[in-house]
Amino acid sequence: MKSEIKKIAVLTSGGDAPGMNAAIRAVVRSCAYHNLECVGVYRGYEGLIEGDFKTLNARSVKNLINRGGTFLKSARSKGFMTKEGRKKAYEHLKKNSIDALVVIGGDGTFTGAIVFNEEHNFPIVGLPGTIDNDINGTDNTIGYDTALNTVVEAIDKIRDTANSHNRLFLVEVMGRDAGDIALNAGIGAGAEEILIPEQDMGRERLVASLKRSKASGKSSSIVVVAEGDQIGKNIFGLAEYIRENLEEYECKVTVLGHIQRGGSPSCYDRVLASRLGVGAVDALLNGERDVMIGLVHNKVVIVDFKESLKGENKIDKDLIRVADIISV
Ligand code: F6P
Repeated sequence: MKSEIKKIAVLTSGGDAPGMNAAIRAVVRSCAYHNLECVGVYRGYEGLIEGDFKTLNARSVKNLINRGGTFLKSARSKGFMTKEGRKKAYEHLKKNSIDALVVIGGDGTFTGAIVFNEEHNFPIVGLPGTIDNDINGTDNTIGYDTALNTVVEAIDKIRDTANSHNRLFLVEVMGRDAGDIALNAGIGAGAEEILIPEQDMGRERLVASLKRSKASGKSSSIVVVAEGDQIGKNIFGLAEYIRENLEEYECKVTVLGHIQRGGSPSCYDRVLASRLGVGAVDALLNGERDVMIGLVHNKVVIVDFKESLKGENKIDKDLIRVADIISV
């Protein structure tokens, strides 16, 4: 059956992630390949509500695959959380004869897409773009690998100074609800302790463990703290507690913050974004709607939007065990 889709819009929404540009590029070039029109929507759902659109062709996305951020810009739209906002967005799509939408973002973006679909029955396909890796149905989200490498590079530098001064460093990394960045970057950077939202370690156990490692001959220590971790929620408060209960070390805090979201995407993220972008247009042409495109065991897969948001974060218990063993 011939597809009825002739014109596709693409947008990025929520927190930006390295590789979003590569994903947009893949969608735009895929449209060009299939002789479809493509429209870029600026500032995510905000631009959809305001009709902030621009026609994109294959050359509009040149020199982009290596660039961090998103040239379409991103936003966390309050307007799209309202019925009126979503109605305006739908009217702009119809007025511009757009047949389908590709949204690149995280859980908030997908939640918006599900509600929009329920109200207006508009074909949408999602691509998982967030450094947090907290989307089900894909092994990695776009931007996660780059963020991991950024964090590991930063902690390597912190380790140099921690070691020179025999200090304990608490390093806060992003991950409001997910410990993936903390756990994987923590292992990669050789952290002594890793605090994640999925597992509450407790302050007493943390201090006891740091005392043990000091007694075993370690002269400095790195503790990676996910921003959503329960005991690390206020990392400066945690540092105070450690100072009061662990005299063995001088304790310092580094909050890595938004450097984790920036920078040129890794090769892994560029390839992932390219595969998923092509997969999104393929899926729409094959009549798929209300789905996310992911990568599982190195194969492009189609996942129901609701499944992608389901349940607990997929933290790997085996990784926690590995982290415990290699930090003795
Ligand atoms: O969703 C990605 C993320 O990086 C979270 O880990 C972090 O809590 C949040 O974005 C910060 O977002 P913003 O700077 O947009 O408020």
